[in-house]
Amino acid sequence: MAEEIDPKKLAEEIAETKKAKHIEFGLIQQVLSRELRNSKNRKEIVKNVKSKLYQVSGAYRNDNLDYSTLKEKLADVTPETPLDELKVVCREIMHTHASTRERSGILDELYGEIFRDMPQPKTICDLACGLNPFSIPWMPLEPGFRYEAFDLFSDMSDLLNCFFEKRGIDGQASQANLLYGMPGGPYDLAFLFKVIPCLEQIDKYGGRHILNQLSYNARYAAVSFPGASLSGKEKGMPRNYEVHFMNIVDQDAWEIRKVKFPTELVFIMKSKVFYE
Ligand SMILES: C[S@@+](CC[C@H](N)C(=O)[O-])C[C@H]1O[C@@H](n2cnc3c(N)ncnc32)[C@H](O)[C@@H]1O
Repeated sequence: MAEEIDPKKLAEEIAETKKAKHIEFGLIQQVLSRELRNSKNRKEIVKNVKSKLYQVSGAYRNDNLDYSTLKEKLADVTPETPLDELKVVCREIMHTHASTRERSGILDELYGEIFRDMPQPKTICDLACGLNPFSIPWMPLEPGFRYEAFDLFSDMSDLLNCFFEKRGIDGQASQANLLYGMPGGPYDLAFLFKVIPCLEQIDKYGGRHILNQLSYNARYAAVSFPGASLSGKEKGMPRNYEVHFMNIVDQDAWEIRKVKFPTELVFIMKSKVFYE
């Protein structure tokens, strides 16, 4: 007889494992409920849930790293720390996450392009941010901005909040699952860097939905896709991503400008339907 499975208990059990620790609990339940429809075998279900969680989030971070230990690197950071010294610390921290590591060579050009044609933003959100808020020192922002960052992991949110506090940034990092919808808002500028493929691994309409919500909640947005796969093997990816993006974005809702870097394909967008 097949073993009776209690979904809540099983989700809690998975949440205790090394790979799923710190991850938003709703996502575990969401992935689990899908796997429960596909299999009755407990062992197989647990394996598949862990593997899916790894694909959408764990693969980018370092599971062997205790992210709270990175707070030590911020020990001497103050609002007065010179920018060049601050950048050294931030770069080192960004290198612990694959996504920001890949971006580290293009930060000046990337933010130069994004901020080029827009009024100075006062409210910014970074959706599925990873460790990207550590690139704030490269953004041409005037003092007085508010920065809200969201991702699945509580330990990374803690680290980001420590950075905001030490640097005197009016910021808040929180745990959020974008598949439940866009958190907060409205914003002058939203970053959605390299996350759409992750959302679509769980919900094939996840990218389309978030772009749609963003058009009403953000005056401007910068949406990006990876320039290559994590392994570096898939070369045709930017072209495929561009075609896909143009299929899922409502082109009547946005003015879109494309900028291509070797490591990242970026769409800089102005909403035509943002509600003042
Ligand atoms: C490729 S990384 C990009 C990180 C960051 N945006 C950057 O470009 O540096 C994808 C990120 O999306 C996050 N993520 C995946 N699915 C998510 C979801 N449903 N809700 C919120 N964040 C999610 C992961 O935890 C991971 O940090």
